[in-house]
Amino acid sequence: MWHTSTARKGASRVRVPPPDFREALAAGAHIRRRILIRLITGWLLLSMTVIGAVLLFEFNRVKLVVHQMAVAEITGFGREAVRSLNSDEPALEQALGRKIQRSVNEHFLTVEIYGPDGKLRFEAARDGASSIGREVAHYRHRIPEQGESSRELHYLEGRLLLAIVLPLEYPQGNPAGYFEGVYQVDPAQRAKLEEEIVHVIVLVTTSLALAAALLSPIIMNLNRWLVRLAATLFKGNVELLDVLGCAIAERDSDTNSHNYRVTLYALGFGQRLGLSRWELRNLIAGAFLHDVGKIGIRDPILLKPGRLTPEEFEVMKTHVTLGVDVLKRASWLQGARDVVEFHHEKYDGSGYLRGLSGEAIPLNARLFSIVDVFDALTSPRPYKQPWPVEEAVAALEKDSGTHFDPHLVRVFSTIAASLYRELHGLDDSRLEAILRKSMAKYFLSGA
Ligand SMILES: [Fe+2]
Repeated sequence: MWHTSTARKGASRVRVPPPDFREALAAGAHIRRRILIRLITGWLLLSMTVIGAVLLFEFNRVKLVVHQMAVAEITGFGREAVRSLNSDEPALEQALGRKIQRSVNEHFLTVEIYGPDGKLRFEAARDGASSIGREVAHYRHRIPEQGESSRELHYLEGRLLLAIVLPLEYPQGNPAGYFEGVYQVDPAQRAKLEEEIVHVIVLVTTSLALAAALLSPIIMNLNRWLVRLAATLFKGNVELLDVLGCAIAERDSDTNSHNYRVTLYALGFGQRLGLSRWELRNLIAGAFLHDVGKIGIRDPILLKPGRLTPEEFEVMKTHVTLGVDVLKRASWLQGARDVVEFHHEKYDGSGYLRGLSGEAIPLNARLFSIVDVFDALTSPRPYKQPWPVEEAVAALEKDSGTHFDPHLVRVFSTIAASLYRELHGLDDSRLEAILRKSMAKYFLSGA
């Protein structure tokens, strides 16, 4: 049986270093950049939406204004048109013709007056207006319902045009025919309308920019507050690990280094296996607290220098359930449970506490059991010299398929030497620094 802990009371305590707030600040700066980009993107989208809505509103307003101008002009000859539609008097037609011609000379490009049967009775067009007329031809020659009118605004060849259809009625309200024409807005009037639109857009854009400028510092301050809060929570969580690690070490540890190293070995192994950020976070906490339940094992058994009797070993096994009980009290440590609860299970089902076998044992527990034994073998103990890496890996391979997952042993054997070179021999402070950085990376990532 591999037993990876030792029994030297009074050893220096295992201590998780306080979080490195440079990582917290870096994460905060990263979040601030993202918020700033989102603010700018949101401002642009909002601006485009608002400007689009304003343009639509302004377009309809301009159409209404131009329509009113066109109707005012039509009203000038509308009465004569109605009378002419109901009479064959040449004088009436001549009078109407003069008025229509004047109108065509001023604003209308085309004027057409239809009888109630839809037949064209009068028409006039400004010279050169035929091509414009063709552009809006699809609005023409449609007999409107009684009381129905239509107006369509067009911007063609630099001209602002209104294609208008207007019913003509007798004074009693009966349909007399209808008017159809293309009204052209004066260049001066058009410039005035365009200027009004530009003013509205500038006003809206400036207001949006001002609102964004006023809101940005508030949002950024709130973000700074959230980052500080997240850092404080992170610190609290790590301190909880610190407390638990300290409690374990006060009772059962020869050195801080074992916990640091097995945690970093497990992390390196997990990274090699391509575990997710969340799984790695759970692995770090689980590895660091794997023997937390030993807090509840009595000294005569926990600190016994020699081999445990079967009865004592049964008591020692309970450190697994005691560890699970400890973890139950912190919801954020539930992810550590896989390692704490199953790190003494064996691949062939001969381990404890449940006697699980194969892949029924959680992956984090299977990989942790390998690094735990690897560190025990390659570290000095009061009763043995450290084993060379090759011999430690050979021992793991020997127990591959019985104690350990064969696939995981194969993978670990490819990285064992480099992990050992990287971490073994480093003093506690250096191991602390590496662990601190890893914890900040994985525990702050979700903050
Ligand atoms: Fe254990």
